[in-house]
Amino acid sequence: MSAISVHDLTRRFGDFVAVDRLTFEVREGEIFGFLGSNGAGKSTAIRMMCGLLKPSGGTATVGGIDVGRDPEGVKRRIGYMSQRFSLYERLTVDQNIRFFAGIYGLRRDRLETRRRFVLEMSGLQSREHVRAADLAGGWRQRLGLGCAILHEPPIVFLDEPTGGVDPVSRREFWRLIDGLSARGVTVLVTTHYLDEAEHCHRVAIIHGGRLAALGTTAELKRAFHGRTIIEVHAGRPVDAMRLLDDMPDVEKTSVFGTAVHAVVSMKPGEAARTIRERLEGGGVAVTRLGPVEPSLEDVFLDVAERATQ
Ligand SMILES: Nc1ncnc2c1ncn2[C@@H]1O[C@H](COP(=O)(O)OP(=O)(O)OP(=O)(O)O)[C@@H](O)[C@H]1O
Ligand SMILES: [Mg+2]
Repeated sequence: MSAISVHDLTRRFGDFVAVDRLTFEVREGEIFGFLGSNGAGKSTAIRMMCGLLKPSGGTATVGGIDVGRDPEGVKRRIGYMSQRFSLYERLTVDQNIRFFAGIYGLRRDRLETRRRFVLEMSGLQSREHVRAADLAGGWRQRLGLGCAILHEPPIVFLDEPTGGVDPVSRREFWRLIDGLSARGVTVLVTTHYLDEAEHCHRVAIIHGGRLAALGTTAELKRAFHGRTIIEVHAGRPVDAMRLLDDMPDVEKTSVFGTAVHAVVSMKPGEAARTIRERLEGGGVAVTRLGPVEPSLEDVFLDVAERATQ
């Protein structure tokens, strides 16, 4: 059975369609990533799946329960970490845990076990009496996750849990997510960090409220099949881009750090040769140039661009 099953899920705000007929399934124990630009509709979709926002159309079944029919039933069976953070700033770590334990109706004996588990998992044992407001970003996120899973829900929704968190803390946070998944917990997580998507078993790219692509990162990269990406390091990247954009075989160009990526409908060897000739002929000095594997960022930009057309 799927842990989450969404069919034609739609949400309108007035005339505006924020989530547009989303359809997908998430397997039990899967880490399912939600990628999409700001305003793509990720949080709105999650709030509907969590029973916090009424769909305008379509259905979502979470843990076997139809959200439209029994939103309260769904809420009891899931963990949810909202994008705008859900800890109580003025409460200490310990008080936050006890507060959420109260919300979830944990019995006293279970509370003690779970409290210890969350403190240990988040590495906050020595910080029990620190106020949430005084915790550094990484600790806060781990406490937030801990509070969201106090009642051991089989399905967890994490809406941008690592936003604004440093790379080391992000890595630690993902270890916790991997651990949950290994224990059979289903995790639906949104992120703007494309490197994090590589931790997901599958990712859905949401664009303009619609599902624009769905698959493993390897599958999404394979969508580039038949096309070549040439990475160009040149003295004058802006001029290089202009020259490349004028070439008939160049589908599009984008900036990647200090390099330019050109998507070309040619074989790698031929593409590299043609592009070098064109750039040098146009007076742009090429430092380094060659075919590269598509990154998830290439895929993301490509999908977003196609969906807009
Ligand atoms: N309550 C609301 N009333 C009107 N419009 C809303 C409401 N909630 C969300 N929207 C709009 O719906 C669209 C989707 O918003 P949503 O927050 O779901 O995007 P998101 O993908 O989570 O973006 P981000 O990456 O910035 O978190 C946005 O255009 C937003 O302004
Ligand atoms: Mg959001």
